[in-house]
Amino acid sequence: MAIEFSERVRRIPSYPVAGGYADEAPLVRLASNESPHPPLAAVRDAIERALADLNRYPDPSNSLLRRRLSERYGVPGSRIAIGNGSCDILLAAGEALLESGAELVYAWPSFSVYPHLSASSGARAITVPLDADERHDLEAMLSEVTHATRLALICNPNNPTSTAVPLADIAGFLAEVPAHVCVIVDEAYCEFNLLEDPESSIELLAAHPNLALLRTFSKVHGLCGLRVGFALCGSEELPRALDQVRQPFFCNALAQAAAVEALAHQDAVIDRVVATVAERNSLAEGLGKLGIELADSQANFCWLHLPDGLDEAEVMRGLAERRVLVRAGAALGSSTPALRVTYGLPAENERFLQALGEVLAAAPAR
Ligand SMILES: Cc1ncc(COP(=O)(O)O)c(C=O)c1O
Repeated sequence: MAIEFSERVRRIPSYPVAGGYADEAPLVRLASNESPHPPLAAVRDAIERALADLNRYPDPSNSLLRRRLSERYGVPGSRIAIGNGSCDILLAAGEALLESGAELVYAWPSFSVYPHLSASSGARAITVPLDADERHDLEAMLSEVTHATRLALICNPNNPTSTAVPLADIAGFLAEVPAHVCVIVDEAYCEFNLLEDPESSIELLAAHPNLALLRTFSKVHGLCGLRVGFALCGSEELPRALDQVRQPFFCNALAQAAAVEALAHQDAVIDRVVATVAERNSLAEGLGKLGIELADSQANFCWLHLPDGLDEAEVMRGLAERRVLVRAGAALGSSTPALRVTYGLPAENERFLQALGEVLAAAPAR
């Protein structure tokens, strides 16, 4: 007899992992919205120093990281949640807020982890299509909010479409949404958004105890391998509830040490954003020459629509044969052929452009 799993496990979708179609390992990895830049030397030194204490459990309250985040963002430590990556905070929010009979509202396509929250809790997911510019339709999302809604997720900039909505629209949403609804604005990519100062959304916390801004060290800080993220919250209740549903010591000692050090290097954050935006512009130009349409990227990746008649899987295969790994749109909820491409180093982006050009040239005439 086979092991019998719970209904919950049967409901939970698997996270779409990046996969190519070739046997050889990719040379250019542009599939997971990682930073192409290695951790800073000072961050590596901090990790090295923390190694000596690995026989001890990590600080369960993340005191030093909490203090540094509080100083950096001007939010009291008691209103900051820390997590084993920001995904950990998302999943904990699902557990703390959702249950059968409750509702969750989010846009689609959006971050692939969101469907997990309803599946694991038994709550009803209401998904709202993006607008014609592939941005969140906040009015439509608001109209889906009911007395049963416990959580609304706004991914800004949105993964996978790379687009951002103005903060004023999010402020408008918050002004209308009932106070019993927790609103998580997932800002994993906010540093790359040139439409808005990443500090501005923090001002909304003062007026909205139901708001949480989700951030991560995985993207601009280049520490996704360590898993550390945080949420700046409008009240103390949410971080407390998130801690209640998780195991103790959820943020490991090396991650805490690295994140503390990374916060001391804001100049490096600016440099990385500048480098990413330069690649964003040059890739947009290169893709334009290939006749490819792009969403307006405010992130460290772009979302491109394949010309009519091209088969997404074929293009993925052609890229993989050239040892370039990107993400297929179909796996991310796209109903039309699309690719999500993370900006890499200049040489990697060049290689991607060249590979895509070859694949397009080899495609049957359209
Ligand atoms: C929108 C969004 N939120 C959150 C995350 C999770 O990041 P992490 O768990 O590495 O902090 C990602 C990762 O790709 C993401 O795209």
